Amino acid sequence: MTHKLFLLVLLPFVFLLILAGLYFPRETKKAIPVRQVKQYYRQHTVALDSAVTQLRQAVAQNAQTTLIHQRFREARLAYKRVEYLLEYYNPYTAKHLNGPALDEVEFDDPLQRTIPPEGFQVIEEYLFPVYDRQQKQALLDEVSLLASNIRRLYYIFDATQFTDAHLFDAMRQEMFRIVTLGITGFDSPVATYSIPETAAALESLQNTISLYQPQLQGPHLPLSAALNNDFANSIRYLRQHSNFNAFDRAEFITRFANPLTARVKEVQQALQIPVGTELRAVSPDAANLFAENAFNVNYFAPDYNSHTTPERVKLGQVLFFDPVLSGNGNRSCASCHQPEKAFTDGQSKSIAFDFKGQVSRNAPTILNAGLQRSLFHDLRVAYLEDQASDVIASASEMHGDLQRAVNDLRTSPEYVELFRGAFPQAKNEPVTERHLKVAIAAYIRSLTALNSRFDQYMRGDATKLTFILYPFSTAPCRRIMTKRKAKFWAFPPQKIQPMRN
Ligand code: HEC
Repeated sequence: MTHKLFLLVLLPFVFLLILAGLYFPRETKKAIPVRQVKQYYRQHTVALDSAVTQLRQAVAQNAQTTLIHQRFREARLAYKRVEYLLEYYNPYTAKHLNGPALDEVEFDDPLQRTIPPEGFQVIEEYLFPVYDRQQKQALLDEVSLLASNIRRLYYIFDATQFTDAHLFDAMRQEMFRIVTLGITGFDSPVATYSIPETAAALESLQNTISLYQPQLQGPHLPLSAALNNDFANSIRYLRQHSNFNAFDRAEFITRFANPLTARVKEVQQALQIPVGTELRAVSPDAANLFAENAFNVNYFAPDYNSHTTPERVKLGQVLFFDPVLSGNGNRSCASCHQPEKAFTDGQSKSIAFDFKGQVSRNAPTILNAGLQRSLFHDLRVAYLEDQASDVIASASEMHGDLQRAVNDLRTSPEYVELFRGAFPQAKNEPVTERHLKVAIAAYIRSLTALNSRFDQYMRGDATKLTFILYPFSTAPCRRIMTKRKAKFWAFPPQKIQPMRN
């Protein structure tokens, strides 16, 4: 009897063991790429460390400037070989290594203290365009700081969990980084070495994905071959066109970067590696950065309850054109943001409330405002939801009162109906200040217009632009892309100190 009981208790364990035996051999084989990438990360961090040490030695020993420059470039290449992993798994360290060479002020620091920058880009400014040897000690200090930041990584490898899904996600993000911050020279504004750096970054991706290629068998063999081709062609193009100033970004993006990004996604699907579902600015299933669905406006909303729905957009649109929001009932949002003028009023400065003079700025377009991290010229508001109350209450703009507007709206059965449709979960009173703001914000988020001829051209339809695009680095574009201050206008300002007027 006890024997029987014993066997009965044992049985589930035996069963589990058999299951585990069936399961784990496959798992271990599948885990190979992840393990090898971890090894790669470690090895190439050591290589980066030693490249930076060599740079330091060259500076310390007063080597010739050409040698110091060469050491700097080698260190940057070493950085690019780990960039995609570093940025993904250790973004905080990545920022110390390759953040912009700009003082930073935390938005929410009441004392507004300045945090000095550090890393490659600071070092670059000591070395390029000409190295001023008077600055040697300061430069050495910066290089030492860089080295110590790199060494911090040694302590965190083991704690980092790698998965296939994360690696593909990281590779995808690196492709976007290459297109926006790499080939533009954004993360290396003076050394003009960004094109060879891009080749190094792509090689690191190729290396990673090649670890998965043995799993692409049978019907997937052509895909594997196409992937090889895409990588080889992209890298060859970069090698053959390494001159920063002459590099044709539009051609590289349309002919190489975009198709390659799409191909990596195809490989991920073929391998049945899941795509992340978390909310992202760039949608995880966009084929490339210029795809029509590339950006997810809901990422820019303050919370889940503010996400966009067609009913909210509709209500927001009605409110946008309704003067009920203004103090005198004469003015709506659309008075200054007129759809037929690309949601501006065409004035150099907007006409103030009651036509008493002008407000101090012009009304900017609100097309694509839903994709901004902050709003207004001084970035004073983070969310569209808060922006509306700012404008409605402003004496010179609408001189309105949200609570009064809400009271008015409650008396209108049509509005109550629209509010109820837009906020079905509201139990009692659907017409509230909060809902009004959410609806207007939803309408503005629906005004995302990324389908200009330029967009279509960048998506690969070469017939859409008949003129030659300026290479980014020449004439007017150069002014935008390389002057540090102008970066503010060219890119989302999250890393940059707010401008004061
Ligand atoms: C009197 C004209 C006027 C009216 C009316 C008006 N705006 Fe504006 N709007 C402006 C001006 C001027 C700015 C720029 C202010 C600044 O940058 O400080 C602006 C900025 C904005 C922005 C920020 C755009 C950006 O890129 O930062 C949004 C969004 C916006 N308005 C939406 C609205 C909404 C919604 C309403 C109605 C509730 C509205 N506006 C009513 C003139 C107006």
